[in-house]
Amino acid sequence: MLTSTCSAPRPHNHQGIGWSELWDSGQSDLWDRGEPSRALVNLIESKPDLIPHPSRSSRRPRALVPGCGKGYDVAMLALHGYDVYGLEVSPTAVETARAYAATQFAAPSPYNFLNASTEDQYLGSERGQVRFIVDDFFARGWEVECRSNDEEFTGFDLIYDYTFLCALFPEMRQDWAQRMSELISPSGVLVCLEFPSYKDLKLPGPPWGLREGIYWDLLVAGGNGIFDDEETAKTATQAASGGAFKRLQYIKPPRSYKVAKGTDMLSIWALR
Ligand SMILES: C[S@@+](CC[C@H](N)C(=O)[O-])C[C@H]1O[C@@H](n2cnc3c(N)ncnc32)[C@H](O)[C@@H]1O
Repeated sequence: MLTSTCSAPRPHNHQGIGWSELWDSGQSDLWDRGEPSRALVNLIESKPDLIPHPSRSSRRPRALVPGCGKGYDVAMLALHGYDVYGLEVSPTAVETARAYAATQFAAPSPYNFLNASTEDQYLGSERGQVRFIVDDFFARGWEVECRSNDEEFTGFDLIYDYTFLCALFPEMRQDWAQRMSELISPSGVLVCLEFPSYKDLKLPGPPWGLREGIYWDLLVAGGNGIFDDEETAKTATQAASGGAFKRLQYIKPPRSYKVAKGTDMLSIWALR
């Protein structure tokens, strides 16, 4: 049984306005982790075969971080050789992210890398470019700004979602999945650091609690991903495919943010 965690759908732009107000009133420390995703650093450096990777590409892979906040993962990906687009609904966030990326390009922090030897390796290679865009993920059109030269936009090679899905009203989840399917390239991957997996599904957000079954329902089964019952969310991973994606990998990262209490999982998805 699918149950809705909220009664009436709220307009999409209310969600973006709410986030912009949090940025403008100086409350970004509510979710700021102070460093890039350790789980993603590990994936890029230890399991490069699982994702489009600069070491195996004739051109720099193009990455998108929607809801990038201060841009920790944007700068980190660029330091690993990706051309990265950070998308934010908040102009204040983008201003903060631009300043942060400039400091990291001038003097990269060790936390961008697994260890001193990989730091030397990646800093010795070509770094990618960073571009921040102020727009709403759900507004169609901003992606044409992410073309190289005058080519047609063919999608991102890598999209990274960390605390973006959980920042959305639950009734926006199905549109999130639809939008991801439009933005990913046919050979690209969507990487999700699934969070928060410990939060009671009945509690309000943001962040709204998420489960493996919610991602599965949205991406593989083509459902609306709205569950407030643990058992239903668990069995959702057995649902038949009707969605745009297949899951390629489901990985327990060797390290992640402490706030996840050891429950973070990395999932990697591609178009079927
Ligand atoms: C929980 S924060 C996470 C930020 C970042 N991923 C991090 O880990 O620090 C969610 C971010 O998504 C942004 N956001 C929310 N809704 C958005 C939308 N519809 N389009 C683009 N950005 C959005 C917010 O402004 C906020 O910075």
